[in-house]
Amino acid sequence: MTVSEIRAKYLEFFKARTHEVIPSVSLVPENDPTTLFISSGMQPLLPYFLGATHPMGSRVTNAQKSLRTQDIEEVGDNRHTTFFEMLGNWSFGDYFKTQQLSWFYEFLTDVVGVDPSRLYVTAFIGDEVLGIPKDTESGQVWKELFSAKGIDALEVDVGTEQNGAEIGMRGGRIFYYNAEKNWWSRAGAPAGMPTGEPGGPDSEVFYDFDPTGSMHNPSFGKECHPNCDCGRFMEIGNSVFMMYVKKEDGSFGELPAKNVDFGGGLERIAAASNNNGDVFLIDALQLVIRELASSGKNYNDPEYQPSFRIVADHLRAAVFMLGDGVRPSNTERGYILRRLIRRSVRHLDKLQIDASVVGRIVDLLIEYYRDQYSELSASHSAILSGILDEERQFRKTLMNGMKEFDKISKKGSITGEDAFLLFTTYGFPYEVTEELARERGLTFSREEFSKKMEEHQKLSRAGAAQKFTGGLADHAEQTIRYHTAHHLLLKALQLVLGSDVHQRGSNITSERLRIDFSYGSKMTPEQKTEVERIVNEKINEQLPVFRTVMPKEDAEKFGAEHEFGVKYPEMVSVYSVGPVHGTADAPQIAEAYSIEFCGGPHVSNTSELGQGGKQFKIQKEEAVAQGIRRIKAIFV
Ligand code: ALA
Repeated sequence: MTVSEIRAKYLEFFKARTHEVIPSVSLVPENDPTTLFISSGMQPLLPYFLGATHPMGSRVTNAQKSLRTQDIEEVGDNRHTTFFEMLGNWSFGDYFKTQQLSWFYEFLTDVVGVDPSRLYVTAFIGDEVLGIPKDTESGQVWKELFSAKGIDALEVDVGTEQNGAEIGMRGGRIFYYNAEKNWWSRAGAPAGMPTGEPGGPDSEVFYDFDPTGSMHNPSFGKECHPNCDCGRFMEIGNSVFMMYVKKEDGSFGELPAKNVDFGGGLERIAAASNNNGDVFLIDALQLVIRELASSGKNYNDPEYQPSFRIVADHLRAAVFMLGDGVRPSNTERGYILRRLIRRSVRHLDKLQIDASVVGRIVDLLIEYYRDQYSELSASHSAILSGILDEERQFRKTLMNGMKEFDKISKKGSITGEDAFLLFTTYGFPYEVTEELARERGLTFSREEFSKKMEEHQKLSRAGAAQKFTGGLADHAEQTIRYHTAHHLLLKALQLVLGSDVHQRGSNITSERLRIDFSYGSKMTPEQKTEVERIVNEKINEQLPVFRTVMPKEDAEKFGAEHEFGVKYPEMVSVYSVGPVHGTADAPQIAEAYSIEFCGGPHVSNTSELGQGGKQFKIQKEEAVAQGIRRIKAIFV
């Protein structure tokens, strides 16, 4: 069955069982600062588990757009995706275990047509400390359901996942695991749940893609069992019996009612209906894969298969994220989107496919999903330009970074320090460094890179707390603004008068800034106007301002402005202004508007300079010595 067919049949099935179909909410959660993205159907329904009355009644169902980004790196194998649709049905104090398990089983076997002998199930083994009993009730329901299809379902107590790898299948059909595996809450197992969080034991259904077990790879554990990650079993649905709430003393109390929270992976159920463990063979992803294959590369070629999958998954996720208003940026949601787009660009390159394919893929995906998710067609052009603009920007970053990478790689290895510099100064993603290093057979240590990142973050924080006096009369806010304007001005002077212009002295108060600089003649009125225009433009562009501590050599490489005659230590503090997509972690100094050796302090964004609509203005320009001019400037 196709993805659309399964979705429609599922909603029909539960509608016929008096459920109200509710719409999918946006991937961007409303009023929930704790999560970046909706990752399960129950998230927006939280109040109804805690006792509020749902306006549509005690039985609801839907297909919910979901995004799980914790294992972006795993995408490329046969089953991990970031975006997926979760089929959900919920009972708010209405039906419970028997009804829930029977319905899902009926849906799988009678509607989707899954062979019941391929299904294996798990349930909660109980926890004495928590005082929560073994879920034999679910076990009994499963026994009867399988028995009705002529299957004698044996129960096996497993406990931990490790024990599962020890004991293996033992001819079982119903497996009892501990709370690490058969308990669900938004925060995972009981120990990690905060006070007030609802949760409960669950019962999962797994599909067996390899009944002979010949696929099992002992690197995943000696023996195979339903929760083994070797790929034989894939979880396709989870019925959570949401009936407990964590209390302040760490123990569990009961919720006002016994609820059911069911979530099933639509794509995975489609894979089960195909009887093929490769999720990328389902129709909704095949349409992307086929478009990519038209370039001549073969999906089954092990060298290219991960790239096919990464592009298909990441572009589909990007389409849905953009459709819900997320835009690429360097923070939070935007950063995840940026990573997904940039990673797909890298893999399109690997497949040697021109980015013009992106337009066709976006069209195909929107066409496929438009009936269910009308927001996609409504923002068709924003989705397309969102991906293509990001692609262009990434190409620029890549080009600059690649030149530097080529230089560095001549040494035969890439150190953590190299990767760190590539990242902080060129915005060159460490994943790219890592992949390139691997492709070219160079050694690379991610730990070393992470250590560098941590040091850098500590230094930036320390720097922000530290006070410097420099050439500033005081640290009044206005003085700090003039200090940043001083940097903008010096660069503007160089742009207008030539790169020989350098600072020869400065004095800043809360009333005005003063700069002395090397230049041989009086500035024309046009030059002054142009300098003012540039400074005001940089203020309007709202450029971020960053402090980075780096080796003096590196700062010089970037052409950071020195103060004349000053001797600098080995490690220096550098202030860079812009680019607009720089972040504290990756200031992207190579693309900065201005870079100076400087102790600070500065504003954190140039938008703080023009407050109250004030404009930067040169008040006076005069000679102070042979070849040295002086400017006094103010905000008016
Ligand atoms: N909320 C449950 C899950 O996400 C169904 O697995």
